[in-house]
Amino acid sequence: MKISKCVFPVAGLGTRFLPVTKELAKEMLPLVNRPIISYGVEEALASGCEEIIMITGRAKRSLEDYFDRSFELEELLKSRGKLELCEKIVKISNMAEILFIRQREPLGLGHAVLCAEPVCKSEYFAVALPDDVFINRESPVLSQLVKVHEKMGGTVIALEEVAPENVSRYGIVKSQFEIEPGLHKIIDMIEKPRPEEAPSNLAIMGRYVLSPTIFEILKEQKAGTGGEIQLTDAIRTLCTREPVWGVVYNGRRFDCGTQKGWLAANVRLAMDDPELKEMILNIVRS
Ligand code: UTP
Repeated sequence: MKISKCVFPVAGLGTRFLPVTKELAKEMLPLVNRPIISYGVEEALASGCEEIIMITGRAKRSLEDYFDRSFELEELLKSRGKLELCEKIVKISNMAEILFIRQREPLGLGHAVLCAEPVCKSEYFAVALPDDVFINRESPVLSQLVKVHEKMGGTVIALEEVAPENVSRYGIVKSQFEIEPGLHKIIDMIEKPRPEEAPSNLAIMGRYVLSPTIFEILKEQKAGTGGEIQLTDAIRTLCTREPVWGVVYNGRRFDCGTQKGWLAANVRLAMDDPELKEMILNIVRS
């Protein structure tokens, strides 16, 4: 089945990146020359999605403005003969069909996903958490999940092997079996376990293809870790009803929801540009 919709929950408060996120949406922080959110949207489009649904909250207006037309700026650039730059700006607003839905209260990621029900209805849909920026130019990480869904049906989640001492930072899955290298049938999962209670070292990362059954489950879902309605808890219930697959993705991930991950992503991406690479190496050398 084709996955045409991708949901981006962006209503979180971004407390790990305070004080920057006091007034600034973390999704708008730059990675070299484009905001973090742009990388996720480009990945979704490259994976075959045609409609982008952003679940926004207060203080996230800048995301809507970024993907909107900016007539004054376009006219100003044109009048100054900066046509190439003007074209670049127009291209951003034509990039994708984007719909914005407000999550009125930040009740958790699960609740944010539920806000997409009026649009996704009974279709399978993708979810991308923009903090997780993946680099794999040949095969975008979301497309790796979409391929598994097309072949096996069901829900698909992105997995990464993490060091045992880091399991308590993630949702960790229990695999029933590995049907082929890197493709697991998931039967259970636990959010942020202590190392001794973790069922594996396979951590859930921010890309999903979800069954619409998740909406029914989320409506009944009680608040979990951190007092928030957790998506992991709902997928856990889903495992008991429908097939859930986990794919150990191929690519490199940066957690841009933290200062360290964001800085690392900037350095890594800048190294692709010969001029910036030279500049970074000079700074490090000196
Ligand atoms: P996080 O757990 O990373 O929370 O949310 P956060 O608020 O973004 O950041 P920290 O932890 O406080 O620094 C995971 C994803 O779920 C979205 C976030 O925007 C992020 O993309 N989210 C979270 C919502 O859309 N709504 C919520 O109520 C909570």
